[in-house]
Amino acid sequence: MGMRPNYHISPKHGFLNDPNGLAQFQGKYHVFYQWLPDVVPQGNKIWRHCVSEDLIHWSDQGCGLKPEEWYEKNGCYSGSGITEGDSYYLFYTGNVRDSEGGRETYQCLASSSDGVNFHKEGPVVYLPEGYTPHFRDPKVWKKNGRWWMVVGAQTKELKGNVALFVSYDLKKWQWKGNMLDSSMDWGYMCECPDLADMGERQFLIVSRQKEDGCKGMVFAGIMDYEQGRFHISEDTGVLLDEGFDFYAPQTFTDESGRRLLMGWIGAGEIEYQMSQPTVKEGWLHVLTIPREVYVKNDRLYQKPAEELKHLRKNEESICGTGEIAIDRHSKCMEILAEGLENQTITFDFGKVIKFLYKKESGNLLVFRKKWNGEGYDEKEIHLDKLEDFRIYLDQSTAEIFLNQGEKVLTMKSYFTEDTLIHMNSELQIKVKTWLLEEE
Ligand code: FRU
Repeated sequence: MGMRPNYHISPKHGFLNDPNGLAQFQGKYHVFYQWLPDVVPQGNKIWRHCVSEDLIHWSDQGCGLKPEEWYEKNGCYSGSGITEGDSYYLFYTGNVRDSEGGRETYQCLASSSDGVNFHKEGPVVYLPEGYTPHFRDPKVWKKNGRWWMVVGAQTKELKGNVALFVSYDLKKWQWKGNMLDSSMDWGYMCECPDLADMGERQFLIVSRQKEDGCKGMVFAGIMDYEQGRFHISEDTGVLLDEGFDFYAPQTFTDESGRRLLMGWIGAGEIEYQMSQPTVKEGWLHVLTIPREVYVKNDRLYQKPAEELKHLRKNEESICGTGEIAIDRHSKCMEILAEGLENQTITFDFGKVIKFLYKKESGNLLVFRKKWNGEGYDEKEIHLDKLEDFRIYLDQSTAEIFLNQGEKVLTMKSYFTEDTLIHMNSELQIKVKTWLLEEE
């Protein structure tokens, strides 16, 4: 089995990046991802297509969109999906390069009536004045009887922003201008924008490229559809995920009305990416588990989709104080600790992931073992209190949900067979574990 995850979407071979075109169509969940058949980070990207009935078992459908036409000849770049009536529509960026390294960008449409064959309808949005060709990743949604599209942009002043468009028929789009206040620092490019309209509250999700790195951020605010402006309520956004490896998240609303999110467990400098041990197995990167986003305390929380519970097998429960050791001989597990009272607590999974929560400071120190050197990568995050944690481990990834998803940490973590769990608590705690393995 190597390092391939069991219940995460991963490519059989080649390179995976952003989740694309997420939707539930005629009952089935569809996920595409940016894909190259070889393990190289750059090239003419393809949309690889996966389908699931239950969000936990995914079947690979092969290539969904391949760069074949003039307007996408150097890649079918990221985009989104929506369903309307009997049709499933995909919006994506056609990437075109010339021999001098110049770039052209077209926001394109493809449609399907069966969720299998997608018919390309060509560009529907051309680059408006005022932007560089770093203009991509259309995300479409419906509100007040109209269709809205956000596109990640770089202005001629080399500043990040998000362009807004509106349409009545999905084919003719009117440009409404920049959606974000340009006096704020949005880095030099905003990739993969997404407006999660949660009713009373709206959240802008954006993968912001800034000199200090590329990060998946979320900003709470109010969307003024008439003016075409998003007014943020705080002047600093927060990381959508505090882990080491998370980027390009996208949300969609499913047929039951839940808003689900998936992101890319990858990104980072090219040398960092290419140093991952799975490269030797001929594949690189995975998508996150599907997470449900919801609003609590005016913030966006994330919890694993309920369906993940169907993977649970062989429940074991342990109750104790002080040093606790659990050995489940598995690298595919769920670990749940709830009702944690105010206490200092340490957790260690196979010496690959460790964390220490200090009740005095409210700081959580997180350590992830390096695979390409000695020692650990480290992070410190603040939590007023630690009430619970839920961890999903899957061969080479870990997703840690703290306080019912107030904060999430996603990271690559290469577990060995020695996967003993050690915990140390001041007060009595109860920990449940499940194996999440194939029969
Ligand atoms: C984000 C991104 C997108 C682009 C895609 C290309 O990771 O750079 O902006 O559409 O990847 O694969």
